Amino acid sequence: MSILYDEERKIFHLATNKTSYVLEVVRDGYLAHRYWGKKISRFRDSNTLVSIDRPLSPNPYPHRKESAFSLDTLTQEYPGYGTTDFRTPAYQIQLESGSTTTDLRVHTHRIFKGKPGLEGLPATYVDNENEADTLEIVLRDSILDLTVILSYSVFEQGDAITRSVRFINEGDEKLRLLRASSMSADFGDAEYEMLHLSGGWSNERNVIKRPLQKGIQSVESKRGASSPQHNPFLALLRRGAGEDCGEIYGFNLVYSGNFLANVEVDQYDTTRVSIGINPFDFAWLLKPDESFQTPEAVMVYSDEGLGGMSRIYHRLYRSRLCRGEFRDKERPILINNWEATYFDFNADKIEQIAAKGKDLGIELFVLDDGWFGKRDDDTSSLGDWFVNQNKLPGGLEDLAKRINKQGLQFGLWFEPEMVNEDSDLYRKHPDWVIHTAERPRSTGRYQLVLDFSRRDVCDAIIRMLSDVLRSAPITYVKWDMNRHMTEIGSALLPPERQRETAHRYMLGLYRVMDELTTAFPHVLFESCSSGGGRFDPGMLYYMPQTWTSDNSDAISRLKIQYGTSLVYPVSAMGAHVSDVPNHQVGRVTPLETRGNVALSGVFGYELDLTTFSEQEEQMVKDQVAFYKDVRRMVQFGDFYRLLNPFEGNEAAWMFVSEDGSEALAFYYKVLAQPNLGFRTLRLKGLNPDVLYRLDDGDLFGGDELMYAGLRVPAELLMGDFRSKVWRLRRED
Ligand code: DGJ
Repeated sequence: MSILYDEERKIFHLATNKTSYVLEVVRDGYLAHRYWGKKISRFRDSNTLVSIDRPLSPNPYPHRKESAFSLDTLTQEYPGYGTTDFRTPAYQIQLESGSTTTDLRVHTHRIFKGKPGLEGLPATYVDNENEADTLEIVLRDSILDLTVILSYSVFEQGDAITRSVRFINEGDEKLRLLRASSMSADFGDAEYEMLHLSGGWSNERNVIKRPLQKGIQSVESKRGASSPQHNPFLALLRRGAGEDCGEIYGFNLVYSGNFLANVEVDQYDTTRVSIGINPFDFAWLLKPDESFQTPEAVMVYSDEGLGGMSRIYHRLYRSRLCRGEFRDKERPILINNWEATYFDFNADKIEQIAAKGKDLGIELFVLDDGWFGKRDDDTSSLGDWFVNQNKLPGGLEDLAKRINKQGLQFGLWFEPEMVNEDSDLYRKHPDWVIHTAERPRSTGRYQLVLDFSRRDVCDAIIRMLSDVLRSAPITYVKWDMNRHMTEIGSALLPPERQRETAHRYMLGLYRVMDELTTAFPHVLFESCSSGGGRFDPGMLYYMPQTWTSDNSDAISRLKIQYGTSLVYPVSAMGAHVSDVPNHQVGRVTPLETRGNVALSGVFGYELDLTTFSEQEEQMVKDQVAFYKDVRRMVQFGDFYRLLNPFEGNEAAWMFVSEDGSEALAFYYKVLAQPNLGFRTLRLKGLNPDVLYRLDDGDLFGGDELMYAGLRVPAELLMGDFRSKVWRLRRED
């Protein structure tokens, strides 16, 4: 059992292979956070809790005339508001009286094997109950008859701990939940840097680091989607920690909507971290007997730097977050027509691109936006999910069969959560969108957001999509979402529940995705939100891959894919070779380098292959054949970052196959610089005692490749945007 409870000392010790996490029930039921870090065989309390009288830190025991104890100075686990702690609370509840003071104390606990699912929400899971143990700590506010259950699941082998919280109103007054973090934890010092993944459209998940300062530092989304602006992820790096060494604490929210990841450093340099649904513009009415479930937070500690943390997240998400038959399956190489044709295509054009793709070894054709309603540009037809007869007079089935005949699978784009004002659906159901009655409805890309907090709207979308998916041999769906929420409100919710709309929307979306992915288990779903605008674990639970960014420029992608890899596995990252000059940034890069960047993800093409020269076709053929050969290693192997594009003019990373018998290293140089020195690439993750043969026949020990390194060929000094790949095979 990975969770132990010391009854006498009231200490919970949660242990993974390499990590310990310790809680203590102090005084009459306060839950204190005592330790999280490298594994300790037995916690005997060397770093004992002390409390002394601190000016301006009040005491919750006035009747005892006791001035030393204050919640303001205790390292806590799920702190409340109003009873002597002035730092950011983990939760906040308003009573009918208007008061927001609550007082939760530990009541009971339960430890059991396995990990239960979360009602209506995505979460990591176990395939059998031996893979994780769960601790539920039941807190109660006796005055309110409020029960709060803190759940901890420990993936012992996976080296991760997940947390979530359930609020249950067992009293007879209406409570209003104003804040409900998924986790909170206090660290005893502030010697950390905060790392987050932030950016914007076409520039997602830049790695940003800053030393912690006194006060609050946070990242959040108020957009109704997890967003490209900030990913729902935060890490603390102990001073001196880096890619390969040092202590890292990662926090990732399994949620696709508004979130807040918050760090507060207080007057005594205690650091409080929390992550959860954004309390901004959120309130949830909890009537008697109702309950509220928070999303799950996935917490990872690594003493092997960011690389160690990433590999823990990658393994867990690949195997125990993603689901369905594609979880463990190699993903097909696709050709998507978006950047090849945009809205301007017909069945013949599509068939030509597919036929060329087939010649070159591609496996799946994806028909992007523009196949439905009257859609010839982005001003109309979202919501009208029936085929555009002008473009595809034979219908979808005919086209899909023509593509199948060429020998490719057929995939289709949808944007199910949206509707254009110019659509039959909106004309018929103008109240089916997120809106407030008294204001005009702002549009984004001429579209409005369907009100997925409504069951009838969700059911209608499920029906429409199911009809299309049944109408033709479709084996892949690209699920797009291209605007954020404004004028947030729902026509069906009463005034006191309007601030529930954004979260209810997410619950509706999760149900829609759950029903569709369950009904169509043989369809591979890829999520997208103007590229990687909703690249989060919530989406990965339903759809095992995400279109990483609308920016398909190979050089921009170095940073985007590097940043994404901090948390998310390569098997989740869609990466396509596109045309030059690149459509997003205008850059011209060699086809070889575009290939080498896209080969480091779930590989595909997004350009008009029919315009390629023979030489270019040959290169595509080679890239496709190469990917097929190394695909298992790229999608399911271990990933190591070697050179950081945020820190210089180069990037490099590598893959090691699951059984360690093979490796693949990629090196990229951005701009040529005069009179550069020679470069060495020190590999990682190899077996030091084993010999590896390179493709050119050279044989080197794993130790030499890792410690002395590989020489980057001098020819790469010349020219911009150069790259190189090495394949290494273990020699037995
Ligand atoms: C945004 C996506 O990110 C693109 O790949 C493409 O599918 C367009 N939408 C289509 O409108």
